[in-house]
Amino acid sequence: MKLAADEQAMLDGKQGKAKQKAMDLLVRYGEALGAERFVDTNNVCGTVGASTPFLREYSSRHGGMDAVFSEFNLDSAEVVEIPKVSVYSSHLQQGIDPEHAERQGIAVEIVNFHRKGEAYAAGLGLQMLNTCAPYTVGNVPALGEHCAWMESSAVIYINSVLGARTNAEGRESAGCAMLTGKIPYWGYHIDENRLGTHHVELGIEVESTADWGLLGYYIGEVVQDRVPVITGVKHAPDLARLKHFGAAAASSGGVEMYHLVGITPEAPTLEAAFGRKQPVMRFSYGKAERRKAYERANVTAKNPNVDFIMLGCPHYTLEQIGDVCRLLEGKRVHENSELWIFTPRQTKLLADQKGYSKIIADAGAHLMSDTCSALGRVIPKGTKVAAADSAKQSHYLPAIMGIECWFGTTADCVDAALTGRWSGGLE
Ligand code: F3S
Repeated sequence: MKLAADEQAMLDGKQGKAKQKAMDLLVRYGEALGAERFVDTNNVCGTVGASTPFLREYSSRHGGMDAVFSEFNLDSAEVVEIPKVSVYSSHLQQGIDPEHAERQGIAVEIVNFHRKGEAYAAGLGLQMLNTCAPYTVGNVPALGEHCAWMESSAVIYINSVLGARTNAEGRESAGCAMLTGKIPYWGYHIDENRLGTHHVELGIEVESTADWGLLGYYIGEVVQDRVPVITGVKHAPDLARLKHFGAAAASSGGVEMYHLVGITPEAPTLEAAFGRKQPVMRFSYGKAERRKAYERANVTAKNPNVDFIMLGCPHYTLEQIGDVCRLLEGKRVHENSELWIFTPRQTKLLADQKGYSKIIADAGAHLMSDTCSALGRVIPKGTKVAAADSAKQSHYLPAIMGIECWFGTTADCVDAALTGRWSGGLE
């Protein structure tokens, strides 16, 4: 790679050992990817904590959190002192919600360790947003801004909806970008790679959030990691719909970028979305495709008795919490079921102020933050059958936790929480 003077200086160790190690890793990473240079970034979203049992043990055996950062963010067996981050950096979701640890079956020692890890990351200068939807709580990159973000649902959102530029980074590259403000210039940082590859024509109206999830789930499976361009959208989707669409497309495939013609910023027209390229494939999405996606999202579900309902994947917005409250108010969650709703901790504060948290608690449900069931592996003890209004969660929960999972609308899920039984279906 061709290095600028400041990059060479970091690689030569003129700004300390940690930045030298970070630059060394980024050069190896960039060369493996065929990148010719770096691009500056002032917006990194990643993880530096130690919330898994393995990392906790590693930290205890090797002398603390600098050892974890050295090994797992810098790829260095030598423990180096980690300086404060050089650029704006925010932290993704973690493994537990310390405020609901007991309900999530997390021991006190783990919570104490977790809090130390949080203090460490905050001390390095990270903004502890602790969410997979940082763009809902203040980290909103600008059009064209070069970023280095982890988390597939967030990557696809900022690339496509905001027109920011990032690849799906890993813990290592994001950690190194925090210290150096550099990331290899490749993939979705480059104009040409952002152009569409597949043309998807909608033959039906896509309305609800669940429907947008189904559309994403279908498209992701067809296009895998390419760039779909969607035409025929009748009503511009809101943030929640776009959030569910992207998360689903990124989980059934590896989509990191899409265009909605006339809606997303890099696709004012079909021609602009494809540039000089011709689509490699055209397909339409109608009733039959919607049904197929629904059946795929429900492939593990058989038993109608639902033990656990998970809402908030990706983490819910305040408006989504409000929607659930309107369905829950004055009612009680069934004695055989649990309803957990996940949201960023900042949004939870707003939910407290608005009275939503009380409505949820009065109904016997729980508003949680910082983590989620699939990522943190946190579900009520004994759960065999879950339900979710997120195609991403219904994709991962059975695979990660070995349980069944129904997928449906938010109303279907709340109904399951109130009755203990699944009676959703495709309208
Ligand atoms: Fe977020 Fe967990 Fe879903 S991290 S996107 S709620 S799988």
